[in-house]
Amino acid sequence: MKIVTAIIQPEKLDDVKAALFNAEVCKMTVSRVKGCGQQAGYSESYRGQKRSVNLLDKVRLDIAVNENFVKPTVDAIIKGARTGKIGDGKIFVVDLPECIRIRTGETGGEAIG
Ligand SMILES: Nc1ncnc2c1ncn2[C@@H]1O[C@H](COP(=O)(O)OP(=O)(O)OP(=O)(O)O)[C@@H](O)[C@H]1O
Ligand SMILES: [Mg+2]
Repeated sequence: MKIVTAIIQPEKLDDVKAALFNAEVCKMTVSRVKGCGQQAGYSESYRGQKRSVNLLDKVRLDIAVNENFVKPTVDAIIKGARTGKIGDGKIFVVDLPECIRIRTGETGGEAIG
């Protein structure tokens, strides 16, 4: 099992949701977060003095999947979020040792699916 965590532009959330739905990925947690990447939150044209990073509004998706859904999930996020411009976002794929469905006590792949 893996956790796919994606940080995307907020305005791409609807496109990413649609692409995930098409890939039959329908379980997700979505959060509003702040962050910055390699531009430290400043555009290429920024000319002011930088004293710190500039945190920008982002949307975070956390999606726990079985191994066979990792690639479809990643592909769908890219399809929905990519414009080719800086700030399109980033995807982190992390090993997930366990998952438990509280209602039934199911564990592992059965609890995720
Ligand atoms: N190394 C990192 N660790 C934690 N969060 C990160 C990291 N890189 C990016 N992020 C998160 O992802 C968001 C989007 O990153 P962003 O797309 O700007 O990445 P980038 O590496 O700067 O690539 P690009 O040059 O395409 O902009 C950031 O605002 C931040 O929330
Ligand atoms: Mg960036």
